[in-house]
Order: sequence, then structure tokens, then C-alpha cells
Amino acid sequence: MARVAVVTGGTRGIGEAISVALKDAGYKVAANYAGNDERARAFTDKTGIAAFKWDVSSLDDCVAGMAKVEAALGPVEIIVNNAGITRDATMKKMNRNAWDEVLDTNLGGCFNMCKAGWDGMLNRSFGRIVNIGSINGQAGQYGQVNYAAAKSGIHGFTKALSQEGAAKGITVNAIAPGYIDTDMVAAVPADVLEKIVARIPVKRLGHAHEIARGVLFLVAEDAGFITGSTISINGGQHMY
Ligand code: CAA
Repeated sequence: MARVAVVTGGTRGIGEAISVALKDAGYKVAANYAGNDERARAFTDKTGIAAFKWDVSSLDDCVAGMAKVEAALGPVEIIVNNAGITRDATMKKMNRNAWDEVLDTNLGGCFNMCKAGWDGMLNRSFGRIVNIGSINGQAGQYGQVNYAAAKSGIHGFTKALSQEGAAKGITVNAIAPGYIDTDMVAAVPADVLEKIVARIPVKRLGHAHEIARGVLFLVAEDAGFITGSTISINGGQHMY
């Protein structure tokens, strides 16, 4: 039986590539999204992958959303915590709201989804959790104290939860993408982005499917000995 995977933020950007790669590899996929109905409809029309709308920053919404996915597709055995937002600003200009939104969505969402899926994984003695961190959580980034803190938190969360899952058949790993050619990176001012790309040894932005490749590796049946690890996929920009 094909295993069921939920990808948060799974209808656009890196999440879309992950959803499609999992489907192409034979998994049953549910793509979560928070707001953009139009893009989600277009995604489902194009890929045939069902999209489920809920806000990962709410634990109640995650519990309800996961129940809907399970009713439609079966028990969730793979969770890819990909949903993330940016509210970049220097400390001088960043308000508390920009801090809370990014922490609640990027890091809180990771907790909420794992909380919603954890008992089922324990009961079935199988689970694969992949958390999408960031190079900016590893190295920091000017104008991103909120995002860097949340993503760095994801890396710590991954190492801690992996220890709880290790003897129970549940692996918990992270991927730390560098700068990938998504809408999120396109929002970085062009002159700033140009300087960032110039510092990437591979000399280009990454592609979303290059992150999906790492997810497929980590969720595989024979990846049971890989847990608590972080795979950096960043064109050599930061070696960690
Ligand atoms: N290092 C040093 N100084 C920097 C700097 C840097 N990297 N970036 C900007 N500055 C300086 C400018 O030179 C300028 O200095 P002066 O005032 O002395 O001239 C000053 O900062 C500008 O500060 P402001 O607060 O006025 O800046 P701003 O409002 O124009 O915007 C910013 C600042 C929000 C940080 C903007 O530069 C920006 O968006 N930078 C990109 C941040 C980034 O890389 N975000 C990643 C998004 S994608 C992502 O996060 C995905 C992933 O996981 C990789």
C-alpha cells in the first residue's frame, strides 16, 4: 500500500516540487496550503494532487486538517514541514508582529503538525518527518532575525524529536535549502539577490526539484537509519 504524505505549503514553490516528486514516486500525497485558493486550484488541476486548506500556525487547525486528510487518503505516515513565510526587516524596523507571524508559522507550524501526527506514527511504529530549515537558520542573515531564529529552531527541534522517535520507527530529519528560485527569493531586492548569488559557489539559484530530491531520499523505506540529520542543499554557499 502506498504511504500517505502531507506536505505543508505544498501547492507552491519548494512544497509544490516536493508534492509532485512524492506523487511521481508512488506516494499518496495531500498538499496543505494556507491562503492562495487560486494557486491551489491550479496546482490540483495540473498535478491531480488534492489540496487541503488550513493554517499551520493553529494546532486546532492542524489536528482538524490531518483528520480530513486521513479520512480521504488513510493514515499519514510522512509529514514534510515546508510551510514558511518571510517578514524581512532590520531590527530597527521589525515590529513584534513580524516576529510573531514568522515564529508561529515556520516553527510553531512544525510543532503543530508533528503534534497532530505523532501519536498515529507511534501507534503504527512508523513515521518519516522531514522539516525544511534554511541556510539562514544555520548561518544567520542580515534583516532576518525572525526567520533565522525560526529556522534555527527547526534544526534544534529536529535533533530533539529525532531522539524521541528513534526507537519507535520514526525518523526526523531536516533539509537546509539555500537560495532557491521561488517567489520567496524573488521578493528579495534585485541588487541584494545579485550579491548573494555571486557568493554561491555553484553560481546560480537552486531549483525546487533539487530540494525535493533530498526529501525523497529521507522518506524512503530504507532510510530508517538516517535520523536527526540535516542535509544542506545550497550550492556550496555554506558548509555546515
Ligand atoms: N550586510 C551588511 N549591511 C547590509 C546588508 C548586509 N547583508 N544588507 C543591507 N545592509 C545595509 C545597507 O547597506 C544599508 O546600509 P546604510 O543604511 O548604511 O546605507 C542598510 O542595511 C539598509 O537598512 P534598512 O533597514 O534601511 O534596509 P531596507 O529596509 O532597505 O531592507 C533588508 C533591509 C530587509 C535586510 C533588505 O536588504 C533585504 O530584503 N535583504 C535580503 C534578506 C534576505 O536575504 N532574505 C532572504 C529571503 S529568502 C529566504 O529566506 C529563503 C531561504 O531560506 C534562503
